[in-house]
Amino acid sequence: MQHPITDAARAYPGLPPGFLLGAATASYQIEGAHDEDGRGPSIWDTYCRRPGLVADGASGDTACDHYHRYREDVALLRDLGVDSYRFSVAWPRIRPTGSGPVERRGLDFYDRLTDALLTAGISPAVTLYHWDLPQALEDRGGWRVRETAERFAEYTALVAGRLGDRVDRWITLNEPFCSAFLGHAAAVHAPGTREGRGALAAAHHLLVGHGLAASALRAAGAREIGITLNPDRLLPATDDPADHAAVQRAETLHNEVWFEPLFAGRYPAHEAETWGPMADGSFRRDGDLDLIGAPLDFVGVNYYRPLTIADAPYTDPDPATRTAVDIRAAERPRDDVRHTTMGWPVAPHTLTDLLVDLTRRYPAMPPLLITENGSAESDTVTPEGRVHDTDRIDYLRDHLAAVAEAVRAGVDVRGYYVWSLLDNFEWARGYRQRFGIVRVDYATQQRIPKDSYHWYRGLIAAHRGGREGTGTASGDEATR
Ligand code: FCB
Repeated sequence: MQHPITDAARAYPGLPPGFLLGAATASYQIEGAHDEDGRGPSIWDTYCRRPGLVADGASGDTACDHYHRYREDVALLRDLGVDSYRFSVAWPRIRPTGSGPVERRGLDFYDRLTDALLTAGISPAVTLYHWDLPQALEDRGGWRVRETAERFAEYTALVAGRLGDRVDRWITLNEPFCSAFLGHAAAVHAPGTREGRGALAAAHHLLVGHGLAASALRAAGAREIGITLNPDRLLPATDDPADHAAVQRAETLHNEVWFEPLFAGRYPAHEAETWGPMADGSFRRDGDLDLIGAPLDFVGVNYYRPLTIADAPYTDPDPATRTAVDIRAAERPRDDVRHTTMGWPVAPHTLTDLLVDLTRRYPAMPPLLITENGSAESDTVTPEGRVHDTDRIDYLRDHLAAVAEAVRAGVDVRGYYVWSLLDNFEWARGYRQRFGIVRVDYATQQRIPKDSYHWYRGLIAAHRGGREGTGTASGDEATR
């Protein structure tokens, strides 16, 4: 069923009282200072140094230099008026080799950042793993082995011990789908390998790591604990039953691998047919489902675009040599909607449909937070030094309206974080993709708030003041 977004919702999303509005970033994408204060190398440092994998040979070595400029960035957040800021902690700053000595200077940095946020009246939301695994752990098997899940829980306890008195909201993992499958099957993310079974083992150990970390957080008295997933809205390319079957296989790969063990206490029903000869499951242990499925306070949802799926032949038809997770499903382009510079179709109502559908399928799921949503656009700076990013404003407004529509349909969504506060290092796409509501000039590190920043500030003020109907813009600088 489709949930059309009404014009009234688009004009002002009508978010419920207390609905939280925030902005998000991640350590490797903004911090830079890759070799300072004892930080160890991560799998992304290694991936970026392999020739040809990242656009323009870019890396996060300097990125937005946030490690040195965090006070300026917190000031931008304060002026924006956000309730909460979602950032991630770089594991290799805290424990540079993943299992050896603890680096105090790393903990000190996040301590200062947390205090700066609290002074600005902003609630910190900490992601513990946004993909920067210490390289030393990768060298010992990475997420393919259970030990990494155990090390993750130890690192989590260290961070919670230091920040737990001041952090309201903890996110164990960000988008484990990307870590497991883009990292170990499609090879487009670190560690950049193609190994079917390794990817499935990584998916499982990421979930085990989540369970162990959540339990360490509970033991440390954490207030709110969740995990951030990137469920996909999967649409069949045609009515052909073969395309519907491909959608079911894609459901297993994209959604059920995570949602079934986390919120239904079981592994995906169709996994045997989906994985075929790759399935083995020997990495699972008794008790894992209880560990993974322990109650959470929220689930974070990152959402950008729907996927249109068609049946497809195996890319490697020989099962003896097949290494990637190949489920005979392919994404098909669509020509009926606008695309962002990522090549992602813009279809906001699919977010409403996704949230409604997840709520129906997983009644035991905790309340939702949209922990990322945003768009990369071809921004230009005017001679006056402005960025008139009207496409991004439309995107954000329509997706917030889609969230409000889901709330009206009965979905318990408690907040929304825009991705991203700053233009930043967009993984394998390097610095070509700009997602920020603040532009970063990478040569000078100058920050320029875009029109979308001013628009979002107006929306936040209107929401706070309960002044419905003025949500399009209240800042004078806003152009819309
Ligand atoms: C998500 C990632 C985030 C960012 C956005 C565009 O998959 O979590 O770091 O790259 O996509």
